Amino acid sequence: MRGDRIGGGRTIAAFALGTALGLAGCGSGGRSGTVLTISGSAVGDEAAVLRTLLARFEREHPGLHVELRETPDAADLRHQLYVQWLNARVPRPDVLQIDVVWTAELAAAGWLRPLDDLGADLDGFVPGAAAAARWRGRTWAIPWFVDVGLLYRRTDLAPDPPESLAALAGSAGRLARSGRVADGLVWQGARYEGLVCVFLEISGGFGGRILDDDGRVVVDSDAGVRALTWMRQLLRGASPEAVLTWKEEQTRFAFQNGRAAFMRNWPYAYRAMADPDRSAVAGRYAVSPLPAAPAGKPTAALGGALLAINARSRHPREAFALIRFLTSRDAMVERLRAVGQLPARVAAFDDPAVSGTLGATPAAARE
Ligand code: GLC
Repeated sequence: MRGDRIGGGRTIAAFALGTALGLAGCGSGGRSGTVLTISGSAVGDEAAVLRTLLARFEREHPGLHVELRETPDAADLRHQLYVQWLNARVPRPDVLQIDVVWTAELAAAGWLRPLDDLGADLDGFVPGAAAAARWRGRTWAIPWFVDVGLLYRRTDLAPDPPESLAALAGSAGRLARSGRVADGLVWQGARYEGLVCVFLEISGGFGGRILDDDGRVVVDSDAGVRALTWMRQLLRGASPEAVLTWKEEQTRFAFQNGRAAFMRNWPYAYRAMADPDRSAVAGRYAVSPLPAAPAGKPTAALGGALLAINARSRHPREAFALIRFLTSRDAMVERLRAVGQLPARVAAFDDPAVSGTLGATPAAARE
């Protein structure tokens, strides 16, 4: 996927604990020591690997306890919840998993704690992710994982990746009509951030852009209209109408249960579907870049998450120790092995687990 373009507004992209341990207990549930809370997403196997990592952090940091606050899967519902918490000036969660596109908004509102004085260092991170962590000359978050839009296909139904968007729509429609599979292509069509990402990818595939080089809005170009038309036409048989209410997990369930020939999704779905006990398609799927139309280029949206500190947190130093731990190279590789999400540190791409996971995909993400 080297050389693919990244779409639109998402364009890519030793702490001393001594004093902390002396702090008075503020535990919940009668725990002594300091209790930190972290909130985040839990698609696929995310929550399981995070619990494992948090337990290790606690073992390595006696006196610190971490509670995981799970939040809705859908990025914009999570965003709404964060706005409610942060606007109410509550001190928890201390550590927030934020989307790559939220940094400026949350920092401008005064809801994040700048990390520069805590020793934040963005050297060695994937450039697009590092850029997403900075705003107005300060560092507000540390990149955690990188997401990149992918086309999944059933290799028993479509042995080779489609060469163009027209070929993809044609093949999805034929397979659905043939009855070999219930649905052709499934994607995130609900009215939310995920649909924006899908549109960015299709629009780029037709040669469209959201902003031009001077920052003018050009989303309603001919290419943009052709992209939307292509998406609408999918609903005439290549995609089920239900995609208009689907987010990531509904599309994964459809594909994992063997209902769909193709799926647009993020890397997390790759690992989640590999287990034959849980997946009807284990060993029968592969990923490739979404193809383009002749006028455009294969385009992948850059997604992913950063870790930030609530400006009202009572434990910013301990919170930063947790962020350091979770964004270490090793923790990123562990997350990749367990969930399939790509590391945000360039050095982690040298690990064999990365190249073994998604074939050529990491090359696009690291750029
Ligand atoms: C994934 C991406 C995130 C994006 C969201 C949209 O979680 O990592 O960046 O906003 O999907 O649904």
